[in-house]
Amino acid sequence: MAVPLLDLRAQFDAIRDEVIPCLLSVVERQQFIMGDEVGKLEQALAGLSQTRHAIACASGTDALLLSLKVLDLRPGDEVVTSPFTFFATAGAIWNAGGKPVFVDIDRDTFNLDVAQVEAAITPRTRAIVPVDLFGQMAPMERLMRLAEQHGLGVIEDAAQAIGARRRVNGAWRVAGELGTTGAFSFFPSKNLGAWGDGGLIVTQDAALAERLRRLRTHGGAKQYHHDEIGTNSRLDTLQAAVLLAKLPHLAAWSEGRRQRAARYDEALAGVDGVRTPFVDPDNQHIYHQYTVRAQRRDELKAHLGKRSIGCAVYYPIPLHLQPCFHHLGYRQGQLPQAECAAREVLSLPVYPELPDALQDQVVDAVRSFYA
Ligand SMILES: Cc1ncc(COP(=O)(O)O)c(C=O)c1O
Repeated sequence: MAVPLLDLRAQFDAIRDEVIPCLLSVVERQQFIMGDEVGKLEQALAGLSQTRHAIACASGTDALLLSLKVLDLRPGDEVVTSPFTFFATAGAIWNAGGKPVFVDIDRDTFNLDVAQVEAAITPRTRAIVPVDLFGQMAPMERLMRLAEQHGLGVIEDAAQAIGARRRVNGAWRVAGELGTTGAFSFFPSKNLGAWGDGGLIVTQDAALAERLRRLRTHGGAKQYHHDEIGTNSRLDTLQAAVLLAKLPHLAAWSEGRRQRAARYDEALAGVDGVRTPFVDPDNQHIYHQYTVRAQRRDELKAHLGKRSIGCAVYYPIPLHLQPCFHHLGYRQGQLPQAECAAREVLSLPVYPELPDALQDQVVDAVRSFYA
């Protein structure tokens, strides 16, 4: 049987009767823009993120872009980030007027290497954008300390990490909580996915939240009065309704992903050629992706493909080597951990509805490749 990388249909079948009436309720009220569900979702996700404010917006990309806009970057201002992430992280820095400065990642977690971040700080540095890659939080408390020492903003790209946790001084802190702002994505494949695009920003700072709300609706707190130039980046009420209906399931879904991950960890532990994901003992991973390092990765990917097993390379080209950033002057070999990860990573199916029998098929196929 084919094993998809993700089966959103299985999730839909389980929650259809909960979500459709919520959508119908929006349609019956014809309240498509900034309906009640948007505010309710913001309140719920501020709670989940242990933050005071949440601002829903049109996508995870916009959550990053708007967060970066409030830094009022000037030409030449630098923003330190990871080269091993989805393009939006760096694209948003550029589109907000900043210059992305890529530093290498930690070999084990794929997240920013704090020592490299520190070494990259210059008088032009204005912010750090750590990414909670694959659903595991970056070492936010260490990055926040560094940022405080240098007066920098921290925009946590938590697009893949909603509900992920990290133990700091004995207390659980959650994705989005600690940064100047945290950015989430509701792209349909995310652990909490909309039925279209969507995003959300969280922050503890009331003044920042107010400005972000203005920027989301063309820069005006009052209709037809524009204090600054913003954009249209609202979240549709229909998407908010879907997300609100799904939210009560999120913790169980992420737990289901952890259980799938634990099964893989055990089954693949002895396979020479594969390294299962490393989880920092202080982190609780939500496994947006279950990403192994594999010897002869491309051959393994083809081997799985032939057996109709879904898998994917996130991400094949690190951002410092993308043609659009050529002018920044990075060269091959400069960020070796990111480049090595791009050659070795492979993400396997880890969705919560994945039946044991199908997961066993993935394991058998990986084992047979290295046998
Ligand atoms: C790490 C990361 N940052 C940003 C984004 C952008 O989110 P969106 O696709 O909602 O614009 C994504 C998701 O696709 C992501 O994975």
